[in-house]
Amino acid sequence: MKDIKIESTLTVYDHIDELPTDIIELMDQAAIARKNSYSPYSKFSVGAAILLENKQIVLGSNQENASYPSGLCAERTAIFIAGSRIHQTITPIPPCGACRQAIAEYEVKQDAPIEIYFMGETGKVVKSHSLANLLPLVFDKSVL
Ligand code: THU
Repeated sequence: MKDIKIESTLTVYDHIDELPTDIIELMDQAAIARKNSYSPYSKFSVGAAILLENKQIVLGSNQENASYPSGLCAERTAIFIAGSRIHQTITPIPPCGACRQAIAEYEVKQDAPIEIYFMGETGKVVKSHSLANLLPLVFDKSVL
C-alpha cells in the first residue's frame, strides 16, 4: 500500500486585463456566445470559445432539451463543432436517436418542419420532410 499525492495549481488574475490579449478576446467571444444559449429549463446560460491553431475562434453555448440528458454543455458544443471542422468526415451518418431528440427540440420550438437529408459517399440521397417523420411519438415539452 502507498499514498499518492495529487495536486492542482491554479493561477488567479485579479482582473481580466492582466491576461494576454488573445485570451481576453477569447473570453469576450465566450460572453458573446453565451447569448445563443438555449437554456429554458435551467435558466443558466453558458458560453464557450476555443482558439484553434489556425487562430480561428469556435464558439459554443449550452443547448438544453426537454429530455435533459440530450442537451449539451457549452464546452462540448464548441469542441464538437471544432472537431467536425478539422476532421471533416464523408462517412454517411444518419442522425442517431440522441441527435434526433436534440433536433426535435428545435423543430417543436420553431413550429416548422426541419428537412433531414441522408447522404453516402456515393449513391442515393434520402430526404425526410421533417424530423418528426424520423421520430414518431417524440418526447417534447408538451408532455412535461
Ligand atoms: N453547463 C455548461 O454548459 N457547462 C458547464 O460546465 C456546466 C453546466 C450547462 C448545462 C446546463 O444547460 C446548465 O449549464 C445548467 O447545468
